[in-house]
Amino acid sequence: MSARRRPLVAGNWKMNGLRACARELAAIIAGAGELSAVELMVCPPATLIAEFAGFAGGTPVAIGAQDCHPEPAGAFTGDISAEMLRDAGATAVIVGHSERRTFHKETDADVRAKALAARRASLLAIVCVGETRAEREGGSALEVVRSQLDGSLPDGSTADTVVVAYEPVWAIGTGLTPTTNDIAEIHGFIRQRLASRFGSTMGTMRILYGGSVKPSNAKELMSVADVDGALVGGASLNAQEFLAVAGVYR
Ligand code: PGA
Repeated sequence: MSARRRPLVAGNWKMNGLRACARELAAIIAGAGELSAVELMVCPPATLIAEFAGFAGGTPVAIGAQDCHPEPAGAFTGDISAEMLRDAGATAVIVGHSERRTFHKETDADVRAKALAARRASLLAIVCVGETRAEREGGSALEVVRSQLDGSLPDGSTADTVVVAYEPVWAIGTGLTPTTNDIAEIHGFIRQRLASRFGSTMGTMRILYGGSVKPSNAKELMSVADVDGALVGGASLNAQEFLAVAGVYR
């Protein structure tokens, strides 16, 4: 982790959370004061964004969304635009999560359009990439990540508009994690690709690791070179676990 990059630990609640879960957010906010070295973000389901943004306003905890539509408005039943998320109080949005790529057949071009929509609405885009188990076992992890990165990041991306999250699909929700050597290899590779495409300023773009991050492995995973924080799924649903993960940056 470079001194130029402030770590980010973002919780992806996925399709979990009712209004009563505001107490988890309250506990995260209460613990955030001791964690000034790290940026904290909670990405609840869209139904909770406005309420959570109200609770978290003026605290160090940012509220993000999990997806957006590329268009600002229109006849897209059930969809939510980046502008609407911003209006509800979100400051960031996850795009291209593997669950969106798999269940909603999102392509790199779709993800790029969503990242552009985020920029248009002044939301930070957390752009996810990562290989499947078959791709890892077939030796094509780097190639898959390269092509997702090239296809999903819009031209003109900067550290202020984009965070990359490397999330190997086989590590999400499984309790499995890559070796620290494998993570170092992929994160170093992503850093190089960013630099060759966007120039040396890309030394400041953050690259998160995601996939089964929990209190017991966070220290090891977050100490890998070029890992600038975590995108946390399951463990982010519990305030104490989420704070314990972020606490490695204390
Ligand atoms: P997990 O999910 O931490 O539950 O593996 C991570 C993610 O999908 O972002």
